[in-house]
Amino acid sequence: MKAIILVGGEGTRLRPLTCNVPKPMVPVVNRPFLEHTFSYLKHHNIDEVILAMGYLPHRIKEHFGDGKDYGIKLTYEVEDSPMGTGGAVKRLHHLLDDTFVVMNGDVYTDLDITEMAAMHKEKQSVCSIAMVPVEDPTKYGVIETSPANKIRKFTEKPGWDSVTSNNINAGTYIMEPKVLEQIPYGTFHMFEQGLFPKLLLGGESLYGFPLKGYWIDMGTVESYLKLHGDMLKGQAALNMQSKSKDGIWSDETTRIHRTAKIQGPVVIGAGCTIGPRARITGPVVIGAGCNIGEDTALEDCVLWRQTSVGNQSTLNHCVIGNNAKIGNNVWVKSGSVVADDAVIGDGNKLANGIALWPGHNLESDSVTFVRR
Ligand code: GTP
Repeated sequence: MKAIILVGGEGTRLRPLTCNVPKPMVPVVNRPFLEHTFSYLKHHNIDEVILAMGYLPHRIKEHFGDGKDYGIKLTYEVEDSPMGTGGAVKRLHHLLDDTFVVMNGDVYTDLDITEMAAMHKEKQSVCSIAMVPVEDPTKYGVIETSPANKIRKFTEKPGWDSVTSNNINAGTYIMEPKVLEQIPYGTFHMFEQGLFPKLLLGGESLYGFPLKGYWIDMGTVESYLKLHGDMLKGQAALNMQSKSKDGIWSDETTRIHRTAKIQGPVVIGAGCTIGPRARITGPVVIGAGCNIGEDTALEDCVLWRQTSVGNQSTLNHCVIGNNAKIGNNVWVKSGSVVADDAVIGDGNKLANGIALWPGHNLESDSVTFVRR
């Protein structure tokens, strides 16, 4: 089967991390998110992938090229303006002559897509949708099925009084090419509001596939941090090339001062320096080329590449982009985001949930941050 990955969205909920970097290229444990998706698909013997792109497509193309280095055959399709989930797939109908997979590009899962494809075939489904149970389905597309998982109804973001199931659309589909005949060409179209209800009305067989394993939409700062925590704690698949020592993955080119205290799970990339008496309490991921100063404490945070943190600073439950400069005695509090190339001068405190935009300087700029 071919897989289409929908990666055209602007990732507004992850801003300002996605100002320079499209969501599929956001690093997850020091690898672009899409690399994890490619590994997952390859594990299920899917090695032909079409990327339906729109936002910052060159950043994705530059990194993956023809896909050979990642063991897959890649085709890129770029939309001039967002076509929606259905509209994006409709544009690709000429590439699809057999059963195909569609995935939202921001989902991390260990859904057994091989088993889902077997069910799709056995039931002669025209469209199968992975379903995952959640505690609060009111924010999602809810799916109601028969006991045999035949889909009866879709409800987008229902109020609590009309919730009939806690199974939601998990953003992975297996489809027959003929369903695309139901989508008008060249217009914005969403599966959830357009194609799926139309197929049901036309009496077609749609099936839900209950997802038993891990699933997360990593498209918010909270879920991005949660995904890291889950991967490092072994609750979500973590495919590291090297082995950890006491829950610490550290590159041999990284220098950790003998007085630094590191409590795993922690991943430290190549060429980093961890200063005297630094305290790093996992889950923490530090990208390549970062410097962490003396007496500085990091807990439950993710740092991208080439970022430096001065002395006696504290970073807690936050994300720091590439090449940021954080001074001495700085406190970055829970839920905050410091984007690429941003600078925080000595002694500053970033309150809970603050976002510092790319390149902004907390010492000199007038209005440089907004509450998320
Ligand atoms: P937010 O702005 O934070 O909601 O992010 P998003 O739009 O990137 O993601 P959303 O969860 O809304 O969409 C789910 C997936 O579909 C993401 O992987 C998006 O990249 C993708 N997507 C959304 N709209 C489009 C579109 O118009 N075209 C394409 N090709 N992909 C889309």
